[in-house]
Amino acid sequence: MTDLAELNRVATAMVAPGRGVLAADESAPTILKRFEAIGVENTEDNRRDYRELLFRSKGMANISGVILFDETIRQNAKDGTPLVKIIEAAGSFPGIKVDKGAKPLPFSPGEVVTEGLDGLRERLAEYRSLGAKFCKWRAVIEIGDGIPSYNCIHANAHALARYAALCQDQDLVPIVEPEVLMDGGHSIDRCYEVTEFALKELYRELYYARVKLEGTALKPNMIVPGKKCEEQASVEEVAEKTLRVLKQCVPAAVPGVAFLSGGQSDLDATARLNAMNKIGGVPWKLTFSYSRALQAAPQKAWAGKADNSAAAQAAFAHRAAMNGLASIGKWSPELEKQAA
Ligand code: 13P
Repeated sequence: MTDLAELNRVATAMVAPGRGVLAADESAPTILKRFEAIGVENTEDNRRDYRELLFRSKGMANISGVILFDETIRQNAKDGTPLVKIIEAAGSFPGIKVDKGAKPLPFSPGEVVTEGLDGLRERLAEYRSLGAKFCKWRAVIEIGDGIPSYNCIHANAHALARYAALCQDQDLVPIVEPEVLMDGGHSIDRCYEVTEFALKELYRELYYARVKLEGTALKPNMIVPGKKCEEQASVEEVAEKTLRVLKQCVPAAVPGVAFLSGGQSDLDATARLNAMNKIGGVPWKLTFSYSRALQAAPQKAWAGKADNSAAAQAAFAHRAAMNGLASIGKWSPELEKQAA
């Protein structure tokens, strides 16, 4: 029997004021890309050393949960302590990415659907025994000429709902992530329209799958123009349009919304979250579930050298603290400078 009270307790703690989620679940090709950018060899030990330094940083005070990749949830720190235990000791929940990535959608050029449902029940049971309290599944929706199609929106929402129901059946909180990409030259209003479409379909499918919204978390994109769009948006416009689309689509039973950063600059990701929390007036907590906007600074500071570990930990703690303040609407550019 699913323990809904326990799922709700975990989902609520994940979005507790001043805290948010660290997405450290880069897949093998993604961590390779990140390490290449800082000139670090992509070995199992380097991946372990890098993630261990994050999990041992003071920054964990602002981190309610850490999303891990399959390798990391099984990995031990240099001294033999399981990384999962280090996360728990920091007062944070271990979580796990369980999707198997986005694959081309037949007959839909440029569109993808996330795979990984086959065998998922058994994988979830194992992850739970390894200490996971929550999971993540990421759907990817690209904006382009004539896309996304309804087929893409629907296939991805349906898969998210089947994943979420399986998670709850195994007493794991599902983070549902329908990411509308910011690649391309589309306007902010086109991002709004597509995100609304994706979220409406997602909550319909979650309802059909009998997912209990009190025991879930939403991980959406913010409403932003495409990176190549000539007309970029102010912090206020992003905050207002993001709040508006969420109010149109997300039921009040959902405890929290934890945004992805999606390629925004570190400061944009912080300032926009802060602006939303300053406006407030919404039934859910609004926080972060960032990978790039939390890790770009520590990765640069670390550059694969043990001597740089303390500097990398400080860079991570700084971003975690700034985003923690943004999650309660108490961040400001002045604080950013003072604390840096
Ligand atoms: P970014 O914050 O880098 O977009 O990553 C978040 C994430 O977990 C995507 O699934």
